[in-house]
Amino acid sequence: MVLYVFGAIVLLGAGTVGWYYIYDRWIQRDHAIRRNFPIYGRFRYIMENLGEYFRQYWFTADWEERPFNRLTRAWVYRSAKGVSNYVAFGSEVDAQQPGHIYFLHSAFPVNDEETEAYTGKWIGKDIVGKPYKPKSFFNISGMSYGALSSAAITALSEGAAMAGIWLDTGEGALSPYHLKGGCDICFQIGTAKYGVRDAEGNLDEAKLRKVAEIEQVRMFCIKLSQGAKPGRGGILPGSKVTPEIAAIRGIEEGKASISPSRHHDITDIPSLVAFINRVRGVVDKPVGIKMAVGNYDFLDEFFAYLQDRPDEAPDFIQIDGAEGGTGAAPAPLADYVGQSIVQSLPLVAQRLREYGLRNRIRLIASGKLLTPDKVAWAICMGADYVVSARGFMFALGCIQAMKCNTGHCPTGVTSNDPRFMRGLDPTRKAVRVANYAKAVQHDVEAIAHACGCKSVRDLKGQHVRVNGGDIIM
Ligand SMILES: Cc1cc2nc3c(=O)[nH]c(=O)nc-3n(C[C@H](O)[C@H](O)[C@H](O)COP(=O)(O)O)c2cc1C
Repeated sequence: MVLYVFGAIVLLGAGTVGWYYIYDRWIQRDHAIRRNFPIYGRFRYIMENLGEYFRQYWFTADWEERPFNRLTRAWVYRSAKGVSNYVAFGSEVDAQQPGHIYFLHSAFPVNDEETEAYTGKWIGKDIVGKPYKPKSFFNISGMSYGALSSAAITALSEGAAMAGIWLDTGEGALSPYHLKGGCDICFQIGTAKYGVRDAEGNLDEAKLRKVAEIEQVRMFCIKLSQGAKPGRGGILPGSKVTPEIAAIRGIEEGKASISPSRHHDITDIPSLVAFINRVRGVVDKPVGIKMAVGNYDFLDEFFAYLQDRPDEAPDFIQIDGAEGGTGAAPAPLADYVGQSIVQSLPLVAQRLREYGLRNRIRLIASGKLLTPDKVAWAICMGADYVVSARGFMFALGCIQAMKCNTGHCPTGVTSNDPRFMRGLDPTRKAVRVANYAKAVQHDVEAIAHACGCKSVRDLKGQHVRVNGGDIIM
């Protein structure tokens, strides 16, 4: 009997191998390697898939991985868990390498008892009925419900409330999960105007007014472009458009949610300014824009236009660097279009000063600014506020699996599949989100105090240097 079973297994095995041999060699025509090396050619694909994991855990050095190396991620993970980030023996950072940031400490640093608590700068003061004064200089950048799971958004909302920071909805409209924790909200109006659109995709003022009536919603951001995909709107694959997401966005379930490259009703500078003021007229709260810097002429023409009508200017501008993240983007746009935050932030700050708009328009920066050195650098360069998306994803447990667009995120951060989402406990992760935000606040303050500034608000360009001129992101 045993012999028969054994014989059957051997025959079945040999038959399967034989079938794959025939299939690889003579039937399939897609893979040259498998046609020329049947069966054994398949190992190449297996090794290629596994290589990604071996490299991440075993072979890649701590400072090598992209987009974020392990040193950066480890800083966020440790901060989020509340583990001390003190280093012993010495720094692992190569202070000689080009792009290394260093701050110029004062001969007379500020003692603890001399420090001043951070106070935010008003946004939209004397312009709107309900201006906003954020409590923190570090906040959460836009990531929509759909790109992120409901569990992730819930944790962000609760964590943001604990840390006193704002949460941007991203372009996918306002979901109940954003409101859950009671944090301050920035509502984003993307090019498809999800959540505030009519059937044709035009702005529906009645819906906008309803959103503005929610006290938690403190400001509105009109997205012109995003660093990871300038020139293209948001992309949410059909597999991620669940009935709930479809209802919140006001679109069809199961169908890819692709926003236009541009707001239909914004074609030039006058129509952009008119749209900003139309929205502001409805919401009576601060209204800003988000953009990645491309064509320089636009900045000059835009600011020259606003110079004569500062009250019509956006209350803030978020500059997103080309190194910014995304739930899904075409590779050529992510890799080769738009300017890095390294160049664009100082440029915009400088132009705002030249056109006399520096005190009127608040400047928000994003693009791989998720550790205290980069956040402090951005403030020195003129940012009033810094926001991060992926820093907070790491705080939620993201392992940089780079599968945000597939619905198979292994940590449940970007997947609404209950199988993956069950791993993400919003209550616990909310604490990590808050811990991470507080650690960044604390360490940027430590840099400021070392530089002789009583408050983070006093950090200026004179306090920072970069080897070789520019940071390498
Ligand atoms: C998963 C994911 C989803 C995003 N969704 C949006 C969005 O809906 N709207 C938007 O303006 N930016 C979106 N972004 C871009 C971020 O708001 C941010 O500008 C960019 O990632 C830079 O910040 P970071 O480098 O700290 O991630 C998204 C980014 C990620 C990673």
